[in-house]
Amino acid sequence: MRLSAYFLPLLRENPSEAQIVSHRLMLRAGMIRQSSAGIYSWLPLGLRVLKKVERIVREEQDAAGALELLMPTIQPAELWQESGRYEDYGKEMLRITDRHERAMLYGPTNEELITDIFRDSIKSYRDLPKNLYHIQWKFRDEVRPRFGVMRGREFLMKDNYSFDLDVKGAKHSYFKMFFAYLRTFARMGLRAIPMRAETGPIGGDLSHEFIVLAETGESQVFCDRAWLESEILDMAVDYDSDLEPQFLRWTSLYAATGDIHDAKACPVPEDRLVTARGIEVGQIFYFGTKYSAPMKAVVAGPDGEPVPVEMGSYGIGVSRLVGAIIEASHDEAGIIWPESVAPFKVGLVNLRAGDRRCVAAADDLYARLTRAGVEVLYDDRDDSPGAKFAAMDLIGLPYQLVVGPRGLDKGVVELKKRAGGARQELSPEAALTLLGGG
Ligand SMILES: Nc1ncnc2c1ncn2[C@@H]1O[C@H](COP(=O)(O)OP(=O)(O)OP(=O)(O)O)[C@@H](O)[C@H]1O
Ligand SMILES: [Mg+2]
Repeated sequence: MRLSAYFLPLLRENPSEAQIVSHRLMLRAGMIRQSSAGIYSWLPLGLRVLKKVERIVREEQDAAGALELLMPTIQPAELWQESGRYEDYGKEMLRITDRHERAMLYGPTNEELITDIFRDSIKSYRDLPKNLYHIQWKFRDEVRPRFGVMRGREFLMKDNYSFDLDVKGAKHSYFKMFFAYLRTFARMGLRAIPMRAETGPIGGDLSHEFIVLAETGESQVFCDRAWLESEILDMAVDYDSDLEPQFLRWTSLYAATGDIHDAKACPVPEDRLVTARGIEVGQIFYFGTKYSAPMKAVVAGPDGEPVPVEMGSYGIGVSRLVGAIIEASHDEAGIIWPESVAPFKVGLVNLRAGDRRCVAAADDLYARLTRAGVEVLYDDRDDSPGAKFAAMDLIGLPYQLVVGPRGLDKGVVELKKRAGGARQELSPEAALTLLGGG
């Protein structure tokens, strides 16, 4: 992509409404624009990151055997009256009346809708287990939308729902998601710690929140120091094997959210206990028959008797993750994207837009990288080197490849790694090879 043809409205000044660094940087880097409180447009650069985050989430869900579908954003109120949550949800739910005076709502979550789909179609235990997910916009009329996409009113969530015949099966589904989540966040370069959590309005008896520690996080959390010392959470998982022993090993190390942490009962000695703030990037729940019983989602069991299915639900804040990744990875100059979610891999900078030799060399690198499938943002504009470097540092692409007249005299270009700032001069051919374009 040529920057001269791109839409990248960078801001020089720090926007006064942004209180935390990720919000500031997302606005300054031209990733998002607020349209009203807690509601954002995703501009081209931001959308590329959102899509990459979404893709990782999707790949890990698919690998764990979940099936993607797409439910609507607007739901009928009746389903929520059936489960009993229509009144309970209160003012956070955006209620809508259509032209026929039917009560509708903009979905804040989808337990009711998926249970309805399930009960209409699945009648026998032979069709279990099932795990269905979608990645869809949600609306919650938060009292205090703030921190940009971290606490929006409209936000993108991956949510899935598991259906099993019995508790053992439901636990296996829960363990699968537990590991799928560890893998998902690790692939984004995040250390997301699974913490025992309150089950809240969704109800049920087993839940973990996945928390990225950050001073600007809204949750108070407690964990064993060992969580911070361990390698980033990443491992291969055989989803068909018995996952309980591995689950118990992971969760034997203490980690709990403030809601359930009890200082008196805490097993971690004080010198090993970390008290911190964190960002909730995902949460998983096992809640049994909380929805299947009132909504009559039953299957015929092996003996022909009807059994309400055992359910779990699992959420990931896809749009919140974009902010969380920035909170975890930035410096004074701007964002530092992990390669897996970077909007482009390489920022190609031509220092002299008016110099024929520089243009030819940069155009050639651009063409060859693009042909090889490397994502390049090519700064071909006529601007000062200082402004170009500042823009590249701000938007945080993993590599900056710089073409200038002095380098070309020596037959070299400069390659800078955004993380750590290491620079090297090398031939254009060597740079291409290094970036996967040779
Ligand atoms: N207002 C929001 N803006 C952006 N992401 C959100 C918002 N609310 C929830 N999420 C994300 O969706 C995921 C699943 O939703 P869940 O119902 O567990 O949220 P929640 O527990 O109500 O979140 P929170 O405690 O932060 O309000 C959360 O883990 C979070 O990452
Ligand atoms: Mg939650």
